[in-house]
Amino acid sequence: MNLLQEKVKEDGVVIDEKILKVDGFLNHQIDADLMWEIGQTFYQQFKDEEITKILTIEASGIAPAIMVAKRFGVPCLFAKKAKPSTLTQGAYSTDIHSFTKNKTSHVMISEEFLNANDRVLIIDDFLANGDASLGLNELVQQANATTVGVGIVIEKAFQAGRQKLNEAGLKVSSLCEVASLAGNKVTLVGEA
Ligand code: G4P
Repeated sequence: MNLLQEKVKEDGVVIDEKILKVDGFLNHQIDADLMWEIGQTFYQQFKDEEITKILTIEASGIAPAIMVAKRFGVPCLFAKKAKPSTLTQGAYSTDIHSFTKNKTSHVMISEEFLNANDRVLIIDDFLANGDASLGLNELVQQANATTVGVGIVIEKAFQAGRQKLNEAGLKVSSLCEVASLAGNKVTLVGEA
């Protein structure tokens, strides 16, 4: 994923030692070509896994997830952070706490869209503490479906997310691993 790494290095803005702003291509303005490449890459990694659904959480996970879904030719499902009036049937739900935003959301997906036959690839924009992906995995478990893996666009490798997901038995694949944001600088894993 050289294009993504270049974007992170060139367009990423270090807000502080823990937060990277990527509003220019991922979290506000979206680079559609980059999202398409992300879709291709996750497809290559998971194409033999008989994925039936891509699952993410609103809002910023949707852009990469929909391109992954397009490449697999399966639906993209996103967990909602507020109960919509149109959600008339039963729902799977759980609480997800965001340490970054210091906020807990009660997230849900309609029972209509996930069942025991589904093989799910979870996609999200950032991996920080891992609670978003763990919460999505909880929704998959409530449906007796299977999480095949977790695909992350940008992993902050200096936070606990990967370890927590691995401890939960989840396979994690990230496309860009940030080793550090110290010194107002983005350092990727493997960089000198
Ligand atoms: P987690 O995603 O691993 O669970 O970690 P955490 O709870 O700390 O972060 C939750 C929210 O913060 C997520 O957004 C995530 O995308 C965002 N986030 C975490 N670290 C960063 C960062 O360094 N930069 C940016 N730009 N965002 C970060 P969310 O609550 O799902 O909301 P939304 O922004 O997608 O709407």
